[in-house]
This record gives sequence, C-alpha cells and structure tokens, in this order.
Amino acid sequence: MAIRKIIVVGLGMVAVATCLLINSCTHAPYVMPIGLRTGDPEICFERDILPIFISKCTNTGCHNAASHESGYQLDSYDNIVRKGIVPGNKAASKIWESIAISSFDVEKMPLNAPGLSARDLDLIGRWIATGAIDSGVSCGISTCDSGSFAYASNIAPIMNTYCVGCHNTASSAGGMLTNYASVKNAAVNGRLIGNITHAAGYKPMPPSGTGLSACQIAQIKNWVATGTPNN
Ligand code: HEC
Repeated sequence: MAIRKIIVVGLGMVAVATCLLINSCTHAPYVMPIGLRTGDPEICFERDILPIFISKCTNTGCHNAASHESGYQLDSYDNIVRKGIVPGNKAASKIWESIAISSFDVEKMPLNAPGLSARDLDLIGRWIATGAIDSGVSCGISTCDSGSFAYASNIAPIMNTYCVGCHNTASSAGGMLTNYASVKNAAVNGRLIGNITHAAGYKPMPPSGTGLSACQIAQIKNWVATGTPNN
C-alpha cells in the first residue's frame, strides 16, 4: 500500500515537473465567443480607439507600417487586433499589459514617454472587455458638424485626439500642436491644411491610418478661413 502511494505521488511529481519544464500545461486564454461580443454602446472604434493608437503608437520608428517594432503595427483595426488583443480578456492581451500593467514581462508603452491618460486607458479597457469589436466608421460621423469650428470646443479637441501624441513639445518632429499659438502658427504658414488634406508637396498627417474625416477637415478649413480666432 505504502509503496503504491509513493509511486503515485512520484508519478504526479514527475508530471508536474514535466509541465513546468516544457510549459505545456498553460491553458489557452479565454476568448469571448463572437455572440457575446456586444461592444460598449459609448465606444466607437474608429472615433475613440483608433486615434489613440495612431497618435500614441505610430510615430516614426515605432509601430507604423515602416517599423512595426516587435511585430506590432498599430494603424488599423485588423492590424491592432491581429496581435496583442484577446477579445473579452484584458489580462491576456499583450497590448493591455504593456500600457496598463507594470510587469517584468513586457516593456511599458509608450516607450520613453508619458503613459496613456486615465481616460484613454478606460476606453481601451472597456473596448477589449466587451469584445474588441469594430463598430465601423458610421458611429463617429454624426457628432461632427462642419458649421461648428470654435478653437476651444472643436479645433483643440481634434488636435488633442489626432496630433499631440506626436506633436507634444517644440522639439517634436514637425513642432508642437498643443496650444492656440502653435496651431495658429501651423495654420498661418499653410502647412496645417496642406498636411491634413494630403495635398501634393505636403506630409500627409496623421502619417498613419485613415486621416481626419471630411467633416473634421471642413471644420479646420472654416476656422482658418475666418482668421484662426482664439475662441
Ligand atoms: C504618429 C505621429 C504623428 C501624428 C499622429 C501626427 N504627426 Fe504631424 N508630423 C509627424 C512627424 C514625424 C513630422 C515630421 C515629418 C517630416 O519632417 O518628415 C510631422 C510633421 C507635421 C507638420 C509639419 C510638416 C511640414 O510640412 O513641415 C505639421 C503641420 C503636422 N505634422 C501636422 C499634424 C497634424 C495637424 C496632425 C493631426 C491631425 C498630425 N500632424 C499628426 C508625426 C505625426
């Protein structure tokens, strides 16, 4: 009896040791079934999530089409979810781990820059937890009115969402776009409109992703046409 027990325990220990050694006993992470991926009604991927990735992750030398550091290209829905996002499971999502969790496992992102804001983390966290769905472009358009183009309530929010992830200090490539004076400066010398409309001879901005919507471009053009007021 005693010998049988020792053999059973011994075999068990061998099995556990083998598991640990070849790491074959880790369970596949939970992936939310398609039918449960309802999304969060307040979150629209194109409007709320993609601009964070474009603005904070796709700078030159990082996760854009040219560099795709560590295999991560974070410039479109397909590219973002293909690697690093596990629908319905934040803890198993490498991208979430890198932006929200301090661990020895992954490098903290964005690299050598301030972390994402609490607002951005909340949005990305809820987006993953509810299934990381692609809500399409339609949900983002209704909130934009080209007839509203005040600096504080319309133009600055566009800059903050789409541009200041890269244009945040005077030494940033292309200069900063964080306040009225700097945005006005880019507008007055003509570069602002040239870049956002992807005009010939200008650098397309933002440099990755789909760019600003026609309505957002119209808001900026209207603001420039009326003399870039600080309103
Ligand atoms: C992912 C990073 C990134 C984002 C997001 C981004 N830019 Fe840029 N921008 C750059 C870089 C890098 C340059 C410098 C490019 C160069 O000189 O080749 C630049 C240059 C510029 C310039 C100067 C270009 C010139 O012709 O001299 C303007 C103006 C500009 N960006 C506006 C914008 C606006 C407006 C947005 C938001 C709608 C934006 N950028 C979003 C990285 C970015």
